[in-house]
Amino acid sequence: MIEYRNLRIALLGGGSVGAQVAELLLKNGDELASRAGAGLELIGVAVRDIAAPRTTDIPAHLLTTDATSLILSADIVIELIGGLEPARSYILQAINSGADVITANKALLATHGPELFDAAEQVGAQLYYEAAVGGAIPIIRPLRDSLAGDTVKRILGIVNGTTNFILDLMETTGESLESALATATALGYAEADPTADIEGYDAAQKAAILASLAFHTTVPLESVYREGISSVTLAQVESARKAGYVIKLLAICERVTDPVTGVEGVSARVHPALVPTGHPLAAVHGANNAVFLEAEAAGDLMFYGAGAGGIETASAVLGDLVSAARRHVIGGPGVAESTHANLPVLPITSVTTRYQIILSVVDQPGVLAEIAGVFSDNGVSVEAVAQSAGSGAGPLARTDDSSSTATLVIGTHEASEAALAATVAALEASNVVSSVVSVLRVEGL
Ligand code: NDP
Ligand code: HSE
Repeated sequence: MIEYRNLRIALLGGGSVGAQVAELLLKNGDELASRAGAGLELIGVAVRDIAAPRTTDIPAHLLTTDATSLILSADIVIELIGGLEPARSYILQAINSGADVITANKALLATHGPELFDAAEQVGAQLYYEAAVGGAIPIIRPLRDSLAGDTVKRILGIVNGTTNFILDLMETTGESLESALATATALGYAEADPTADIEGYDAAQKAAILASLAFHTTVPLESVYREGISSVTLAQVESARKAGYVIKLLAICERVTDPVTGVEGVSARVHPALVPTGHPLAAVHGANNAVFLEAEAAGDLMFYGAGAGGIETASAVLGDLVSAARRHVIGGPGVAESTHANLPVLPITSVTTRYQIILSVVDQPGVLAEIAGVFSDNGVSVEAVAQSAGSGAGPLARTDDSSSTATLVIGTHEASEAALAATVAALEASNVVSSVVSVLRVEGL
């Protein structure tokens, strides 16, 4: 029997995720209440337009456009509006009125997280955000609680479903990026403005959230290095496949030591990368997400599943709701974000990794030695070189002008970003290099 009073739940947003949360809460409320130890009463759903079509039937009497009145009557506020404003103001209003808050809003957390966490700490409230990274995949709570006794060394994440879907389609069907994006948009994976997906902004927001949690350090969104997938070509995908790699848009959060200054800190970056086909992340297909994590004691862990979707994301939101309700029953202040480590957040230039560089070069004696010299002059150690005749403009196959040009595929040992950038600049200036066809980082070896 539930002895605790009914907790009043305000839902802000009745869109893809909000409508599913409302339906599941109304349908499974008694069971969730038993798990939480308190009744869970949905007191209203704030939307922009009461007459707008919804993916589930939200009872008309629950719908309102007066978000503020709803917030001020609630014990727990679920924010599923998205964007920065009015979501930020509504969350602050909820916290300052003593409510706990649940949000899936990665853009808001990555931009204004510290302000919201501070506000919650001031009043002893708690902000829950399991759905903000990886949709249905439990990753926030594992980082925050399960791994609180360990040291996370590195995270490699596929955290944007749209770009994974696109790269996977390019890899498996040879579809162009533009056409694959149109399919992803039609299937509802992409953000309203798909630039957020394609150019890596969405993944960068998630990287900032993951890195902050993993390293107990506030990692501002501006410090996350970001490259999207808009310049990835079918030729690169094909070359990668031939060399035993797949191209994935990765969010990489890691502890790093700057190779020049020796400063120890953390870094977060988002960019396309070559991943060996045998790595678990290479097997993440379609719009799925996965977070591969290396911890000092736990070793390698992987979290995998649906990174988006209304009902899938609703699962994570409702998990947070049960946690928030349990906390009400137990009482006491919320647990503040752990940012005590306050490690330096280092720029991409402090990172070292491996690279694959594809060059179209003049096919004549001495060229290989000259190019090897460019690498060694810039302190980049070459691990492997493969040569084929042809221009290198397409996949590594012979082409009509094979008599005068050759393609070199050069794999490096670990090198710093700065050394690699200097190498590429020198290659571009070299008389024997017709063009630098592709430069990609190699991760997961
Ligand atoms: P939608 O755009 O589908 O829904 C947004 C909802 O918010 C709509 O019901 C809209 O009302 C309402 N709304 C917008 N502005 C206001 C306002 N000013 N006042 C009151 N209500 C407002 O978004 P999603 O459900 O897709 O996403 C919600 C959140 O979840 C976002 O932060 C998103 O990043 C996050 N998320 C989404 C995932 C997904 O797969 N969709 C996955 C993981 C996270 P109306 O319906 O009347 O227009
Ligand atoms: N557009 C996002 C994605 C939705 O493709 O992953 C989930 O955050």
